[in-house]
Amino acid sequence: MPHDLLKAAKDVLRRNWRGSYTVPSPTLYPHQWSWDSAFIAQGYSNYDQRKAQAELLSLFRGQWRNGMVPHIVFDPGEEGYFPGPEVWGTSLSPHAPRDVPTSGITQPPIHAYVAWSIYERATDREGALAFLKEIFPGLMAFHRYLYRERDPYGEGLVYIRHPWESGMDNSPVWDLPLGRIRVPEGSVPPVARKDTDHVPLSERPGDEDYRRFIYLIEVFKACGYREEEILKASPFLIQGNLFNAILHRSNRALLMMAEVLRQDTGEIGAWLDRTASSFNEKLWDGGTGFYHVFDMRAKDLLRARTAAGFIPLFGGLPSKARAETLCRALQKECFCRMNSECFAVPNYDVCEEGFSPHNYWRGPIWINMNWLIYRGLGDYGYERYAAYIRNSVMRLVEMSGFYEYFDPFTGRGHGTKDFSWTAALYIDIVVDGA
Ligand code: SER
Repeated sequence: MPHDLLKAAKDVLRRNWRGSYTVPSPTLYPHQWSWDSAFIAQGYSNYDQRKAQAELLSLFRGQWRNGMVPHIVFDPGEEGYFPGPEVWGTSLSPHAPRDVPTSGITQPPIHAYVAWSIYERATDREGALAFLKEIFPGLMAFHRYLYRERDPYGEGLVYIRHPWESGMDNSPVWDLPLGRIRVPEGSVPPVARKDTDHVPLSERPGDEDYRRFIYLIEVFKACGYREEEILKASPFLIQGNLFNAILHRSNRALLMMAEVLRQDTGEIGAWLDRTASSFNEKLWDGGTGFYHVFDMRAKDLLRARTAAGFIPLFGGLPSKARAETLCRALQKECFCRMNSECFAVPNYDVCEEGFSPHNYWRGPIWINMNWLIYRGLGDYGYERYAAYIRNSVMRLVEMSGFYEYFDPFTGRGHGTKDFSWTAALYIDIVVDGA
C-alpha cells in the first residue's frame, strides 16, 4: 500500500510542477507559496535533488532587496487568485523586485532547515555544495531582515503583522487581535474572493476575516511598506510561537551551513542565544504549561491552545521538563491521545467552543503541523508518540488521499485535494521512518 501511495504522491507533485517550482494546488493556490515550497522541497529531497534545489532557489527570485522572502511569488500568466499583485501594490516599496510580482508579507522561515536537509541527503556531494553556496547568502539576508526589521527592541523574537504570515490564517488564536480591528468605511477595496469557487465557505475563513486581511494590506501600503511606520500603524503585531520556533531551528541549520562554507558564525550564534532565552521567558506560561503567542498591541499573551504550541519541540527550545509537560498536554483527550477514536494532532483544542473539525485552521489536522511535531518528538526521544503521529499521517492519506486538511474524528479530507505539501510530507514521513 505505501508503495502505491508513494507513487501517487509523486504523481501529485509531478502534476503540480510548473517548470521550476510547484503550485500548492492548481485551483485554489495557483502561484508559488513560500513555506509550501519549502515543505515541498523537503519531499523532493528524498528522490529528486534537481527539483528540490530548483524549488527553493526559484522562490528566492522573489526575495526583496531588504532580504524579505515574500509569502507569494506570483505567476504573471495566472489570474485565478485573490488577492493578486494589483492588491499588494508592492511597487510602493523600493525593496520589492521590479520584474517578479510578489506579495508584501512573509511566512515562517523553514527554508534554511530544508536547505540543510537537501544538502545532507544529496548523493552528488559536489552539486550539493554548489547548491549550499548559492542559497546561503539569500538565507542569511532573510534572517538578517527578520532580526533587523521585525525585532525592533532586540529581544530575539521577531513579529508577524498579518495572520497570513503565521501560515495559520484563521486560527482561533487570532480571533481577539483580529476582532479588535475596526475597518473604516470605504478603506477596503471590493473583496472579490475566488477561494470559495473551489472550496465551501464553511471550510474557509469568513468574509469579515477577509475584509480585515485586506485592510491590513491597505495599512502596509499606506506606510509605503516601510517597517518603522508599519510598527507604529499595524493593529496586528504578534510575536509568534510557531514562527520563532521555526526561525530558531533554521538558525541552527544556518550555523551548520556557515561551518561547512567556512563563514563567520558569530552573528548566528548570537541569534540562537537571544531567541532561546526570550522565547522561554516570554512565551511560556507556567500556569497553562504551554507556549503561547505575545500580542504586542494588547501587551499580553494570547492563550488559545493551538497545535502551534507544540512546535517549540521542533525548535529544540523547551527544557526536558517543559518538553515533558508538552508531551503530556499532547496526549490529553483535547489534543487526541493515542487511541483509535481520534487522529493526531488537530490544530485546535477539540474541547474548546470555537473548535471546528472542517474549517481551515480552526480545528482540522494539517500534515505540515504533524510533520513538525513528529520531528520535534523524535528529537526529544518520544519515539512511541512520534511513531503514533507517523502512523496517523499515513492512515489519513491511505483513507482519504492527499487533501489539504482532515477531520480529526472521521479522517475525511477537506479543503482542496491533491495538495502538494500533503503529498511531499507524506513521502518524507514514510521514507524517514522506513
Ligand atoms: N493562505 C492564504 C489563502 O488561503 C494565502 O496565504 O489564500
